[in-house]
Amino acid sequence: MTVTTETPTITIKDIAARAGVSISTVSRVVNQSVKVDPATEERVHEAIATLGYRPNLLARSFRRKITHTIGLLVPDNSNPFFAEMARVIEDAGFAEGYSVILCNSDLSEVKQTRYIDVLLAKRVDGIILTSTGLIPDEDTNHNLARIRQAGVPCVVIDRDLGDEPVDQLLVDNHEGGYLAARFLLDHGHRAIACVVGPSDLTPSAGRIAGFRRALREAGLDLPADALVRGNGRHDGGARAVGELLARNMELTAIFAFNDEMAIGVIGALQRTGRQVPGDVSVVGFDDIPYAAAVFPAVTTIAQPIAEMGRMGLKMLLDRIRDPTGEPSRILLSTRLMERESVRRISAPAH
Ligand code: RIB
Repeated sequence: MTVTTETPTITIKDIAARAGVSISTVSRVVNQSVKVDPATEERVHEAIATLGYRPNLLARSFRRKITHTIGLLVPDNSNPFFAEMARVIEDAGFAEGYSVILCNSDLSEVKQTRYIDVLLAKRVDGIILTSTGLIPDEDTNHNLARIRQAGVPCVVIDRDLGDEPVDQLLVDNHEGGYLAARFLLDHGHRAIACVVGPSDLTPSAGRIAGFRRALREAGLDLPADALVRGNGRHDGGARAVGELLARNMELTAIFAFNDEMAIGVIGALQRTGRQVPGDVSVVGFDDIPYAAAVFPAVTTIAQPIAEMGRMGLKMLLDRIRDPTGEPSRILLSTRLMERESVRRISAPAH
C-alpha cells in the first residue's frame, strides 16, 4: 500500500496568522505595492520563510494583467553580437523589475511563429524582436500583426521593416558598408570580394548597397563573381574563401557581413598559406569582443551593440507605459575600428 503525504499548500491566510497581521498587509508586502512598517514587513518575511509560502504569480498576473516579463526573440544568441545585446537587455530589464524570456529563431519562420505563440500565451508585457529578416518579410509582418492584435507592445531591432507600424531600432548599415569600402579603396585595394549575410537579411542588403556606392564613386563596380553568400558563422566564412579561391580571382581584400565570418575568412586564408593582411586584407562588421582578440586583430565596422540593447529595452518600457503615439524609428551610427587585418597596397585613390 502506498501512503502519500501531500504537504498542505501554504496560503496567504496562514502567513497572516503566523505574522499576526491582516491578509491585506501580507498582500502589500508580497506585491510591494504599498510601504509597510519595517518591523511588520520583517515578521511577514519571517513567516513566509518559515512556512515556505510561494505566491501564485500566475494568478496574480491574471488579476493585474501584468507579468513583469519580456520576450526577447533573436536569431542565434550563440553569436556574440546577439549574446552581448541579449545580456544588456536582460540586465536592463532586471533593473526595472522585469524577467526576460530569451528565444532563438535560427532564422526559421516556423520557430519564429512558434515562439511568438508561446510568448503571447505567457502574457509577456512586451516583445523585443530581431526577426528572420527575410526580404520581403511577410512572415514577420504577419507575426507583428498578431502581436498588435494581442495588444502587446513590440520593438524590432536590427531589421528594417520600412513603414510597418512598429517601433524600430536600426543601425545605418548602408553607412557601415560605405565606410568599409572607402577604407579599402583608400588603402589601394581594387580587387575586392564580399561575403554577404545569410538569406536576404535587411542588414546584409544595406551593407552591400553602401559598399557598392563607394565603389561606384571610385568608378568601380562589384562583379557578380566577387559576391559569395555565407551563413553568418565562422564555417560560412571559411567555405566562402574556398568558393572564391575556386574562381581563381585576383583578390587583395575581402569584406565580410559580420566578424564571425571575417574570423572564419582569416583562418581559411591562413590555412591555405596566405598571409593576412600580407596577401589578403579582411574587414568585418559588428566589433564583437573576439575581433580584437584573434591574430591579426580584425579591422571592422563597429555596431553600438550595448547601446542597442539599452535603447531597445527603454523603447519597449516606454511603449508599455504609453501604448499610444506613432511608432518611432531610430537609426544609430556605425564607426570604423582600424586594427591589423588591412594593409595599404598602394597610394590612396584620388
Ligand atoms: O553577427 C550577426 C549579424 O547579424 C550582425 O551584423 C547583426 O547586424 C545581425 O543582423
